[in-house]
Amino acid sequence: MNIEEKRILVTGVAGFIGSNLTDRLLNLGANVIGVDNLFNGRLENLEEALNYKHFQFHKGDIRDLNFLLDIFKDIDIIFHEAAFTSVPQSIKMPESCNDVNINGTLNLLNAARKRDVKKIIFASSSSIYGDTPTLPKIESMPRIPISPYGVTKLTCESYMQVFHQVYGLNTISLRYFNVFGPRQQDSPYSGVIAIWLGQIIKNKNLIIFGDGNQSRDFTYIKDVVQANILAAENKISGEILNIAAGSPIKLLDLAKLMLKLTNKEDLGINFDLPRPGDIIHSFADISKAKEVLKFQPKYTQELGLRDYFEWYCKKYGINLKIK
Ligand SMILES: NC(=O)c1ccc[n+]([C@@H]2O[C@H](COP(=O)([O-])OP(=O)(O)OC[C@H]3O[C@@H](n4cnc5c(N)ncnc54)[C@H](O)[C@@H]3O)[C@@H](O)[C@H]2O)c1
Repeated sequence: MNIEEKRILVTGVAGFIGSNLTDRLLNLGANVIGVDNLFNGRLENLEEALNYKHFQFHKGDIRDLNFLLDIFKDIDIIFHEAAFTSVPQSIKMPESCNDVNINGTLNLLNAARKRDVKKIIFASSSSIYGDTPTLPKIESMPRIPISPYGVTKLTCESYMQVFHQVYGLNTISLRYFNVFGPRQQDSPYSGVIAIWLGQIIKNKNLIIFGDGNQSRDFTYIKDVVQANILAAENKISGEILNIAAGSPIKLLDLAKLMLKLTNKEDLGINFDLPRPGDIIHSFADISKAKEVLKFQPKYTQELGLRDYFEWYCKKYGINLKIK
């Protein structure tokens, strides 16, 4: 299935990943209908998309079935990015996380079935693996989430597989590993790279929760967008695939790399207590995505950081000398 001229629905369109994916889809010539309730998303993320005449934005909630049925007209593909996305917030408010992620996703699947949508690509997460010691994380291993957020993502993956098996809907779940890049919010609940960049800009020391020896497989947004488009064009269904750079970095090394690249090595690194629900090591085996989707990450963490910092400085008129 080629993306050009397809009618595509993106949920969570005003969020970090949804908006980057939408810009690329529009650039490829697709018609995109975007949905977001603006709980966490921002209209400023849609500035580029709104320049395209084949883009429509609908403010609404994925838990509202009538709203979805009204806007679902001849949709070929859904990229489902909308979610309650914060692990720490999911620990404080498990019911809200459950409601948006599980009830919202089930609603979307039901609307898709009623309106004969051909394909859904679901944004799952490495959080479903929990803190099992086995590394790298491979799709076939046991999944033992340690946060309500992880539980909801695992349940949604199961719904994707059941809707494939029972109703013949074409579904794919992509398990993203720590995505970073342009438009990621600098808030206590977002990814650490955006938070640290905010601290660097304000000339503040970086804060690490834990001893810094925990590792993550940080994945650049452009590689995640590439994986989604490959998944849309592929015929596979009912499958689950890890999407990551496939190379882990310790948080302490990442902090030092960010300070070096931004010429801010004079700033210090402070350590705080580990956060509940945070896993220690995360590192993906991406051989399935490479084989099935021909996915090939193009950004090492350093390349991704440079691209992100350059975008940030240009967007906000900040004069950081990137090394
Ligand atoms: N960023 C990451 O590192 C990462 C890693 C793994 C998985 N994911 C998944 O990828 C997807 C996108 O994440 P993101 O980082 O762009 O997060 P984000 O918070 O920037 O985007 C999520 C969007 O969903 C919208 N939304 C929330 N509840 C909604 C509802 N009830 N109805 C309609 N819209 C709603 C928000 O307003 C927001 O714009 C999410 O499903 C997330 O769980 C992200």
